[in-house]
Amino acid sequence: MERTLVLVKPDGVQRALVGEILARFERRGLQLVGLKLLAVDRQLAERHYAEHRERPFFEAVIQFITSSPVVAMAWEGPNAVGLVRTMMGPTNPANAPSGTIRGDFGIDIGQNIIHGSDSPLRAQEELALFFSEAELVSWERSGSDWIHPV
Ligand code: RTP
Ligand code: MG
Repeated sequence: MERTLVLVKPDGVQRALVGEILARFERRGLQLVGLKLLAVDRQLAERHYAEHRERPFFEAVIQFITSSPVVAMAWEGPNAVGLVRTMMGPTNPANAPSGTIRGDFGIDIGQNIIHGSDSPLRAQEELALFFSEAELVSWERSGSDWIHPV
């Protein structure tokens, strides 16, 4: 079982896509284990995007993610990290197939609606950045055995 961090970025929140995005992961069979709306400050943004510090788009992504609230979600399930990345689609919405979140709702690489952790290790690190231990809830969902072996 894996956990992964999803952020509905400022564009997704402003465009009222939070419910749509949450519903897709819920219907797919992933289990929600953490959820909050927050304003990302510069320090959190720099830690979250630390791997991109030397890239030319670094300042732009920091400005964007701090520009307006985000919704952070923690999702749990078998291969949750890869499943979420597949459902998001490629980084540039212009190349994202229809049926993916970026392919259905985005056009521009700088406004690509959603973030998902790109590896199980990064997922652990990112979940710890956005949630305290008490905010991540282990719970038994009735009917999970109809979605995957428990
Ligand atoms: P994310 O981290 O947001 O889930 O997106 P990702 O893994 O698909 O893409 P990543 O390579 O981690 O890039 C982080 C964010 O930086 C912006 N970006 N702009 N102008 C550019 O060439 C460029 N490349 C990346 C995107 O908004 C991307 O989500
Ligand atoms: Mg990334």
